[in-house]
Amino acid sequence: MKHMNKCRKIKVLVKGWGELSGCRGDNLGKLLASNGILPLPCGGRGLCGLCRVKILAGETNELTIYEKIHGIKKPWRLACRVTVYDDLIVEVPKISEIKPVVYTLNIPIKNPDPLIKEIHSYKEIQKETFLYKQEHPNSLHTLLFNEKIVMTSPVKVRKILLVDLGTTKIAYQVIDLKGNMIIEDVLINPLVRYGSDIITRMSYILDDPGKLVEMMNDLHTSIEKLARENNVCFILLAGNSVMEHIYLGLSIKSLAVKPYKPVLYGPFIIYTGSYPTLVAPIIEGFVGGDAYSELIASLYMNMSKPYLIIDLGTNTEVMLVTEDKIYVTSTPAGPAFEGFISRGSHIAFGGITRVWIKEIVDEKPVFGYSYIGSPQGLLGAGVLSLVASLYAKGFIDKSGRFVKGYANTDSGKAFIIDHKNNVLFTQRDLREFQKAYAAVKSAWRILLNKAGVNREDLKYVIISGSFGSALSPKDLIVLGMVPLKDEERIVISGNLVLLGLKIMALKRDYYSKYNEIRGKLYHINLADEPNYMDVWVKELYFNS
Ligand code: FES
Repeated sequence: MKHMNKCRKIKVLVKGWGELSGCRGDNLGKLLASNGILPLPCGGRGLCGLCRVKILAGETNELTIYEKIHGIKKPWRLACRVTVYDDLIVEVPKISEIKPVVYTLNIPIKNPDPLIKEIHSYKEIQKETFLYKQEHPNSLHTLLFNEKIVMTSPVKVRKILLVDLGTTKIAYQVIDLKGNMIIEDVLINPLVRYGSDIITRMSYILDDPGKLVEMMNDLHTSIEKLARENNVCFILLAGNSVMEHIYLGLSIKSLAVKPYKPVLYGPFIIYTGSYPTLVAPIIEGFVGGDAYSELIASLYMNMSKPYLIIDLGTNTEVMLVTEDKIYVTSTPAGPAFEGFISRGSHIAFGGITRVWIKEIVDEKPVFGYSYIGSPQGLLGAGVLSLVASLYAKGFIDKSGRFVKGYANTDSGKAFIIDHKNNVLFTQRDLREFQKAYAAVKSAWRILLNKAGVNREDLKYVIISGSFGSALSPKDLIVLGMVPLKDEERIVISGNLVLLGLKIMALKRDYYSKYNEIRGKLYHINLADEPNYMDVWVKELYFNS
């Protein structure tokens, strides 16, 4: 007999709309969205900050960390973060424009002091600032940096392109000088034709240095096209150290041998085609400008310390921010997190974002799933939710072995997610996932040890990366992939690199924080840790 949850009826009076009915414990955002009253542009993940409502009366949960990050104060709330405990009276503000999809934490930047400023006379020239000047009404516009003209344009452009140059994908945003987001999207990195991980690309270049030029040109062509299509005047870009070296055309030799140092640290100012481009500074070794941007974003959010940032991806960066030090490391996690498994997919093509076990028939799991675009393959977040549900229901054991409910297929033992679309998940896929999983856990375990921080003392764990935005904190807890067990303290931030770049673009003092931040950094090279392999092997076990 099925166990039915009792619904304790509640009423939500939406001013100007009428009365809705629901159950105690319902999510207010979902209730409003399902009645067509309020869209949830980020899917109710607390990222976009666009589902603000005013609670005029009634009992709800307390303000969540997402709302605090967005600077929300009562009686305002983010509807998608509100749990209804009692009858409510709610006011929904008029919505002028809603972006269709948001993957990134989109917090407002208070009192912007942009890196690019408009001047009216050359007397206003300031050092270390990009200055924009219109020579005459309806005439040329010039962009200057340190008293030099870096761009002349016949059209009035006031937009900035922010680029997170990932190993397998390029995430980007176009913003105006006030920080309003105009577009956000993701492309496949054209360098995937040289392999989906940085090690393979590095070996191409080491074997044939001419490949560096080819790769750099491929990247510049893609980014220049984006800049042209979006009519921007300036580009801010960040990537891991190898991707930034390739973008800058710098030799990667020193990154390939111990002690794995970058050639230069930056920040760098170059041209992408005719577009002036600021490339974020590299922290150390394999911890590049993308990690620096994430740090900037977290510092701007002013979160209680100590906290951990985990940027899940092919190259996973982990940073532990304490009161006086910032511990950083990176680990090659392999491509499983970005959907590169036998029936994987990639965010730019769409795919399955979440899998759950609907029911068990003849001792075999029957899966439900949600997807974006196309249900033909599993995205990283889909893989993680699948593994968490298989583990929670005992279909796989702690060591990752398939123990029951699987089918024997041409690809070996596999769980069939969807027969029609031929989506399955093999034992080999799970092993790929486990390698990435163990790499992430080993990294944070070693950082916490070095810093002498107990996992219980951590205030927050921030999970970043566009892969991260579709994750559920519950799944991370079930698998023991993060050091906290309290959902409320796990922030799934989406792409934090783009937020960091936006802050650098709009708050000049954050752009110039590099030396201050570098002084606090403590870089840990996991390959130098004598017991790294022992830790990694232990961490292959779920929830260990
Ligand atoms: S829908 Fe609530 S924050 Fe995006």
